[in-house]
Amino acid sequence: AAMDSGAARKELDIPTYTERLEARLGKSREMMRVVLNKAKSNPKRVALAEGSDEKMIRAAYQLEEQGIAEPILIGNPNRILRTAEELGLDFDPTIANPRDGEWDHYADRLHELRQRKGLTRSEAGELIRRDTNYFASVMVEMDDADAMLTGLTHHYPSALRPPLQVVGTADDANYAAGVYMLTFKNRVVFCADTTVNLDPDEEVLAEITKHTANLARSFNVEPSAAMLSYSNFGSVDNEGTRKPRGAVKLLHDDPEVDFPVDGEMQADTAVVEDILEGTYDFADLDGPANVLVFPNLEAGNIGYKLLQRLGGAEAIGPMLVGMNKPVHVLQRGDEVKDIVNLAGVAVVDAQDDSEGEL
Ligand code: ACO
Repeated sequence: AAMDSGAARKELDIPTYTERLEARLGKSREMMRVVLNKAKSNPKRVALAEGSDEKMIRAAYQLEEQGIAEPILIGNPNRILRTAEELGLDFDPTIANPRDGEWDHYADRLHELRQRKGLTRSEAGELIRRDTNYFASVMVEMDDADAMLTGLTHHYPSALRPPLQVVGTADDANYAAGVYMLTFKNRVVFCADTTVNLDPDEEVLAEITKHTANLARSFNVEPSAAMLSYSNFGSVDNEGTRKPRGAVKLLHDDPEVDFPVDGEMQADTAVVEDILEGTYDFADLDGPANVLVFPNLEAGNIGYKLLQRLGGAEAIGPMLVGMNKPVHVLQRGDEVKDIVNLAGVAVVDAQDDSEGEL
């Protein structure tokens, strides 16, 4: 007769699904707790571009209540206050209403930034009044907010384009990229690029790797990076495998790079210690990689989603790296907890920016 599976598990000391889930959530909660506590030590102003959205309002309430951030809801005040009341949220949110006629200086600024990209002053005025992604981007660019979150009600590219145009990349960066932090039972990996660059060349891959390594450090994780491909250190030589290999060479020649990085390598080489220490013991990595850089957007986006859904990882992201100010573009369907987590990441990022200026 079939043995009772619970008893069999006990006998073999196999953790139950709930135990595994708890262990994994424990790790990711611990990672996020570090970030959220740091955010609380010096909360920053976060512009929520989709301020009328119910999830954004719930998130704003939590951010304010827990002292993680000072949220600014962008949208129609009557609608926002009515929704907050219907949700039973007792708070007095900071709201910026793009239609209340006080924002000519935002339209002027948008025009100044984009006039040589074909944008007229009257079009800039329309964008400020009607597209809260432009409004929030200018708000951040003009330092009226420290960070921006959007994306819940838009397709990813259309939410991303206004901040790319207005906020732009950091002084030492040319490319933004989207990173997911995935936490497993005893392991954390940062996957890039999962959302932005369709077909990064070796220079872009190298830059993405540096941004992602920096992000890992902000979570107190010492980065160790693998440039992923379908070959191991030249075992296949063609245009596809030369690209990640070239990126590793750029990083090895870069005096600023102070973390181990190697490749190209297959994904199992990157994460299985025995393979790295056996066949490829010459590799620069001391142990399994925790920064996984994918060769293109198909691989990155598909890869992280498989890890999340089949590998049972807890995913935090997409965290946009390489920007001049903290901006994060959520995915449609993301939950309140995702908004709160990304706001926490944005606040910590903004703290580092302002400390850098001191
Ligand atoms: N990093 C930084 N800035 C960039 C990047 C980049 N990778 N790509 C474009 N930009 C800048 C451009 O320089 C330009 O600025 P400028 O007007 O001041 O010169 C601005 O962004 C807009 O660029 P365009 O070329 O006009 O816009 P494009 O149509 O190329 O859009 C975008 C850029 C949105 C990033 C595009 O490459 C894209 O759609 N990427 C894929 C997004 C996607 O579909 N992701 C997968 C799904 S998302 C998910 O699963 C969450």
